[in-house]
Parts: sequence; structure tokens; C-alpha cells
Amino acid sequence: MSTNFNKHNMKFLEGRRLRRLRSSAWQRNMVRQNAIVPSDLILPIFIIDGENERSSIKYMPNIERLSVDLAVKRAKLAYQAGIPAVALFPKADESKRNEQASEAINKDNLICRALSEIKSSVPEIGLITDVALDLYTSHGQDGLMRDNIILNDESVDVMVKSALIQAEAGADIIAPSDMMDGRVGAIRIALDESGFEQIPILSYSAKYASSFYGPFREAVGSSSLLKGNKFTYQLDFANSDEAILEIEQDILEGADMIMIKPGMPYLDIIRQAVDRFNIPIFAYQVSGEYSLIEYGAQNGAIDRDSAIFESLMAFKRAGCTGVFTYFALEMAQKLNK
Ligand code: PBG
Repeated sequence: MSTNFNKHNMKFLEGRRLRRLRSSAWQRNMVRQNAIVPSDLILPIFIIDGENERSSIKYMPNIERLSVDLAVKRAKLAYQAGIPAVALFPKADESKRNEQASEAINKDNLICRALSEIKSSVPEIGLITDVALDLYTSHGQDGLMRDNIILNDESVDVMVKSALIQAEAGADIIAPSDMMDGRVGAIRIALDESGFEQIPILSYSAKYASSFYGPFREAVGSSSLLKGNKFTYQLDFANSDEAILEIEQDILEGADMIMIKPGMPYLDIIRQAVDRFNIPIFAYQVSGEYSLIEYGAQNGAIDRDSAIFESLMAFKRAGCTGVFTYFALEMAQKLNK
């Protein structure tokens, strides 16, 4: 009996054909594990001052900075395509930047104006705001700086105020992306004390010091100002345990959702986080990842549409709840067809 079984088993293994399930489109569809739907996608939008203004971004083909009125239109398209939320990134006029990042706490700043306009015109879509000081400092660092040191607690104080005015202007989700210690807890307490206990925090917990942010920094006007690097606060890309520790810490401080960033080079971190924490995990397919795909396709090295689809599916396979991607609108519209 057992000899017969072993014989059968041997034969079975010899004849085993894993390609059976790949033999036709319907068969592949039947066994496919993951799918992308528009509600997986979050659309970042770059915002500038003015009316009916758009400006192209040097290293991000097909992406433009938009004045608030045009950003409203884009947010409407995103909503119609089934995208749940947009992430807003203002490019403050360079004259508004200073050492104290005071524009970050100006209630009439560009991000607040964008928030209230989009909120009143497209109330159905979620508005996510980035909290960090690099958009407002004269040196382009995410925190305040003294003697070349990025100050932690002083920066957190400014960011707490910045988060509060964003909430007042209509932000639905606050997303601190600065990597200072203690900012999630401080923002949570301040939101709760101001009656914003319903606003979730999406913390960029595992944000690596990455070269892949280059095109973004040009887009928001900080690349020419930034000297040096962000190594004293963003994560060392040689490390993974540290990312887990950061996530653990942010959850303890009250984060509702977690971001891992960049995306594709960090799928291992995403997978570890998904396996460990019962909390929604998002990834950011950042500007450099976007540009590489666009440039590769423009030069004929890869097929654009299938590369985009594959890259987004990789995030779903890694277990992400959703992906921040500059391809969001285009992809959502294609998925609806
Ligand atoms: C701000 C911020 C950055 C990005 C998102 N928020 C840049 C940085 O940390 O230097 C990068 C996003 C992208 O590259 O698409 N702290």
C-alpha cells in the first residue's frame, strides 16, 4: 500500500505540470490572487498660486503643478474615477520661505486655501495633507535648523500648529512626513483637544533617506535650497528593523494608518509591516519611481502601460492597503473602462 502510494507520488512529481493553471486567459483569471481597483489609489496633486495656472515639472513628464481652481477640477475627475482621496503638496513661493517656516502656520497659506476650495467643490473626496517643514524652510530641511542640527521638539511644535490649521481648513487626514520623534503623539493630542478627534493620522513611519525623492524636491522648489542630506532623521536604507520600530512607536502614539516610502525598492519592508501590524499600510510610489518608468518608456526600453500596471500590482502583492501614485488618475480611468 505505502509502496504503491510512494510510486504514485514519484510519478505524480515527475509529471507535475505547474503550467496547467497558466494555460489560458480564463484559467489565469481564475487563479489570480490580487487585483487593483480605483479605491486602492491615492492621487498626489502639486499646487501653485494663481488662477488657471499650470506649470510643468522638470523631471516628471505629464505631471503639472496646478493652481487651486485647476486642482479642484482634477480632484473632481479623481472622485469620478473612484479614487477615495487626494494628497496635496503646495509649492510655496520662494519669498515665503524662511528659517522659522512661518508660512507653515499661516492660516491663509496656499495649502489651506486649496483645502477649503476643494472641500467646498468636491466634498466627497478625502483630502490628505503632508505635515513637514521642507515646503516652507529656506534651507529645505523638514525641520527647523540651528548650527546645522535639525531640531526635534521645536520642529514638532511648529508642525502641531501646522496640522491644526490644516484640520481647520478642511483636511480629512493628517499625514506627518517629517520623521521627527514624537510628532504623531503631539499631533494626536492637539487634534483631540481642538475637537478633531475624528481626523485620522496617516504617519509616514518608515520614510527612508532616498534618492528617489529628487523630482519631487524640484516640483516643490526645495531641491535648489537643500544642502546636504536628511540622514539625521530619515531612515538608513541599509536597515529594516529600524523601520519596524518606527512603525511600532507611531502606532503606540496613535497613528491610524502607516506609510512606507519609497515604494518599490522597499517591498520587503511593506511585507514585514503587513505581516506584523493589524493596521492599514500604504506605500508611496514616489516621484523618482514615477520618472524612471516614464523615462524608460519614452526611450523605448519598457512598455509604459504594462510597466505601470505591474508596478502597482507589486504593491498589492506585497499586501498594501493602497498606494500613493502619480499614475492614480490615469490608472483609475483605465480600470473603469
Ligand atoms: C516632504 C515630502 C517629500 C516627499 C513627500 N513628502 C520629500 C522629502 O522628504 O524630501 C517625497 C514624495 C515623492 O518623491 O514623490 N517631507
